[in-house]
Amino acid sequence: MAKLAVLASGNGSNFEALVQAARTAGHEAVLLVCDRPGALALQRAARLGVPSVLVSYSPGDSAPVDGDRAAAKGDRAIRRLAAEARITTALEDAGADLVALAGFMRLLGPGFVARWQGRLVNIHPSLLPAYPGTEAIRQAWDAGEPVLGVTVHYVDEGMDTGPVLARAEVARQASLEATEQAMHQAEHRLYAQVLVGLLDGVGLG
Ligand code: GRF
Repeated sequence: MAKLAVLASGNGSNFEALVQAARTAGHEAVLLVCDRPGALALQRAARLGVPSVLVSYSPGDSAPVDGDRAAAKGDRAIRRLAAEARITTALEDAGADLVALAGFMRLLGPGFVARWQGRLVNIHPSLLPAYPGTEAIRQAWDAGEPVLGVTVHYVDEGMDTGPVLARAEVARQASLEATEQAMHQAEHRLYAQVLVGLLDGVGLG
């Protein structure tokens, strides 16, 4: 049995699919890390009985940001480092073997990526390297792509740039909404399949 942790910012449908697949395969979902209060992913965690932790990147009471842009930027960088340190501590305390990003809307810094290298994966709703970043489905749709798709990849320091683990194609549907729905279904299938494979491999190598 291996231990899966997930980082999510929003809806959490991939998080839920991963929890169900991991459990079905005899693995444990040990933690959800969320950076946004009120995210539906937190409610899903409570319903599924997965422990969760909210890690805020926002300025706290003790960290006022002055009007100077450079200072504000430096302050953001410090807040990110502090948040990533809290996330690593939470993951270590939970004993996570594998960390899956599932709609986690932040770039992770070099220190965090190095700490979890080879055990940090992401899903992206495009056939990478096409359409990295946000609004990937809409961009592919607007470009008239006849075939869209989803990609599971290891995370490096770039935006959706790490080594690819698997891709699945999704045919363009009659509407953007129908295409989005098909994409999310493909995400849930592919991410669950790849993650269970990785969890099965923990301890074997
Ligand atoms: C998914 O499309 C995922 O590929 C992208 O963010 C979205 C998250 O959806 N990174 P959900 O929160 O898992 O429903």
